[in-house]
Amino acid sequence: MRTHYCGQLRPEHIGETVTICGWVDRRRDHGGVIFLDLRDRTGIAQIVSDPERTPQSYGSAGELRNEYVIRVTGRVSRRPDESLNAKLATGEIEIYADQIEVLNAVQRQLPFQISSAESETVREDLRLKYRYLDLRRDRMTRNLLLRHQVVKAVRRFLEDELNFVEVETPVLTRSTPEGARDYLVPSRVNPGEWFALPQSPQLFKQLLMVAGFDRYYQVARCFRDEDLRADRQPEFTQLDMEMSFLSQEEILELNESLVCHLFKVVKGVDLPRPFPRLTYAESMARYGTDRPDTRFGLELVDVSDLMAESGFKVFSGAIASGGSVKVLPIPGGNDAISNVRIKPGGDLFKEVCDAGAKGLAYIRVRENGEIDTIGAIKDNLTEEQKATLLARTGAEAGHLLLFGAGPTDIVNKSLDRLRQCLGRELDLIDPDKVNLLWVTDFPMFEWNADEKRLEALHHPFTAPNPEDLGDLKTARAQAYDLVYNGLEIGGGSLRIYQRNVQERVFEAIGLSPEEARNKFGFLLEAFEYGTPPHGGIAYGLDRLVMLLAGEESIRDTIAFPKTQQARCLLTDAPSGVDDRQLKELQVKSTYQPKKESIAQS
Ligand code: AMO
Repeated sequence: MRTHYCGQLRPEHIGETVTICGWVDRRRDHGGVIFLDLRDRTGIAQIVSDPERTPQSYGSAGELRNEYVIRVTGRVSRRPDESLNAKLATGEIEIYADQIEVLNAVQRQLPFQISSAESETVREDLRLKYRYLDLRRDRMTRNLLLRHQVVKAVRRFLEDELNFVEVETPVLTRSTPEGARDYLVPSRVNPGEWFALPQSPQLFKQLLMVAGFDRYYQVARCFRDEDLRADRQPEFTQLDMEMSFLSQEEILELNESLVCHLFKVVKGVDLPRPFPRLTYAESMARYGTDRPDTRFGLELVDVSDLMAESGFKVFSGAIASGGSVKVLPIPGGNDAISNVRIKPGGDLFKEVCDAGAKGLAYIRVRENGEIDTIGAIKDNLTEEQKATLLARTGAEAGHLLLFGAGPTDIVNKSLDRLRQCLGRELDLIDPDKVNLLWVTDFPMFEWNADEKRLEALHHPFTAPNPEDLGDLKTARAQAYDLVYNGLEIGGGSLRIYQRNVQERVFEAIGLSPEEARNKFGFLLEAFEYGTPPHGGIAYGLDRLVMLLAGEESIRDTIAFPKTQQARCLLTDAPSGVDDRQLKELQVKSTYQPKKESIAQS
């Protein structure tokens, strides 16, 4: 059919007769000379047809429309100087079309323009409905090819350099507790019983270590029925790894070598090693989050000890009831941020309230260390407290100090939100910077207030720090996350490999011995047949590619993603099924459509 791809042609092909196939990206008629941009996944080549030099193709060239699929045979020539195009890889050549054959015409009006020469912004629902057209567009083609390159580089490196073996694990399986709701699949042959789609291959990869595979990886599809955001999909892909006989330090080093290799291959960037590390406690203290964007400063300062003594009841009261007072100091904030924005009704005030805060106190620092505020704080600080506050927050004239006071988690959450907003707004983030860091020493558990029980922060197979075995409830975990410019792209841990420790952890999260045996008996049993010390990690591949591609949503790195409402607009899934199918599965729906929606439909 063809001799070359469109995007491959270069000056070295000048003089050759070539045949290329593709889609008409654009057709321009310049006073009798027809120019076509012919596109395939590798790029664009310019085709020329005119009545004098290419009379055989001129008639068909005139009939072509955008997105027709054609085959062109012609002579590669050098473009005249005035039409050289340095932006295009094929910009030095053009092809005189001796023959143009229409392989397939477009029969309908295109829902949107595909050519990158048209700068049309297309609604996402339309892009998703006609995803096969959207994927023809330059940006999306590049994203999917980048994804392919990432996976290829990872496979080569893990297999050829580090001796990993890829093993596939089941998709029809039992529930794995990663903290989200499961997608369930009814079993026809075992009526009344259900498979769960895996939230991750966690238990199988651990069993592969018991089996002696030593180093496992998989590009694994995972399913989680959770609230969707720009960086979450119900069905997503992990680059999943597990290793035996390695310490945490060795696992982190091995992963740094993998990530550095990846950046070198796909971005040509040499990342500095070792990656910085922050413990969870440090990260929460300095940034209010366990996934800090360290491309900019604006670090939080804890002033709880100072404010415990102040006469300002909001602050001293917060501390007396076990909370904290922290400050987000903004250099130059006096000029940049008006009172309207930080008082009730303002956008920054709203930002902290959305995070659960009750209010937003502030101080403006003037010349000579004078401070200015809405009454109460200022009047309740002694001169000494004032001086310590300014010294500790590094505040100088022009600084705006924003305060969070209350339960520590809400203070952290609200100041983290403010920090991120203001980092963007004040242009403190260099978009070209790549900041990767490990966050380590997570707590084993967090309190689930709704269910009134402890919950594993990572998952219940994570090993506690051996120093903290005395009191598991407050123990640190041997867990680590990899954070890339403020987004968690991977997480893992050393695992428990002794039955008694695993049983203690199940007990801590409120699983009775019987429930533990019912759900995870197979794992507990496996631990008794010679389990090596092991640990692993999983990267969110979609997120990683999103960041490498400079995109803001993982939907732009997945060929056929779901919407925020977990629907596929292309196939219109999920959909109803035949009663016959439900009957076979012995499943009955209890769903009652709401009255309004019946009226609407
Ligand atoms: P975790 O739950 O942290 O760990 O998931 C690992 C990584 O997967 C990505 N991720 C997601 N990406 C897109 N959409 C989602 N809904 C979604 N949920 C998670 C994140 C995250 O860092 N079994 C453990 C790993 C281990 O311990 O080895 C696990 O799944 O980038």
